[in-house]
Amino acid sequence: MKLRVISDVHGNIHALERVLADLDGAGADLTLCLGDSVGYGAFPSECIRLIRKNCGIVVAGNHDCGVADSIPLEHFNSAGETAIRWIRPRMSPEELEWLAGLPLHATLGDLFLCHSNPAHPGGWVYIRNASQAERAIQARPGQISLIGHTHMPGCWTRSSGFSERTDGTLDNTGILNCGSVGQPRDGDPRAAYMILDTEEMTWRHVRVEYDIAAAASAILDAGLPAMLAGRLYIGR
Ligand SMILES: [Fe+2]
Repeated sequence: MKLRVISDVHGNIHALERVLADLDGAGADLTLCLGDSVGYGAFPSECIRLIRKNCGIVVAGNHDCGVADSIPLEHFNSAGETAIRWIRPRMSPEELEWLAGLPLHATLGDLFLCHSNPAHPGGWVYIRNASQAERAIQARPGQISLIGHTHMPGCWTRSSGFSERTDGTLDNTGILNCGSVGQPRDGDPRAAYMILDTEEMTWRHVRVEYDIAAAASAILDAGLPAMLAGRLYIGR
């Protein structure tokens, strides 16, 4: 099965539309969304609509839970909190209900899907170093975890820690982070997603150009914090 994996769309409809139109992933049998469909960007409803239409499995991110009021606003930094306060009144009751009903994790064959940390999906702890990754890998024996949350594409192997590779095989893989569609933070401002083939046992990160200026100016027009617009240009 060919899977297209997206995460951290964060209300960036310009990036999401380009990712979904990208030919590399267009032939996928199933699209998975690893959370944070909303937050930061100016088009939360539009993104929710496209994600619901295109994704067979969607799990909850911390920003989704923040908008749905299932985790407190103190959990977020100032820009994140401001964005959540901006989004809430713009959601229909039905959209809020959808956000509130998203599961914290899901499984698909040998794959474990969650937003942040496979060891404790509702704890929202980032995986940023080898020991955090190792704990999370040990918590899911026999499974390969697919995550987002850090907005940094990456692969943690079972034996040698973080891998710099942008493609590889699933054999020795413990955790794959698909990166962020709507707010990359690895220094590459292009939208990120991942393609995974469960028959060939391969994975690959993909980057896609999109209209950053349009997404950024919509954030400014909405009166959201300017840093949320500025960081899109530099991917940080
Ligand atoms: Fe995020």
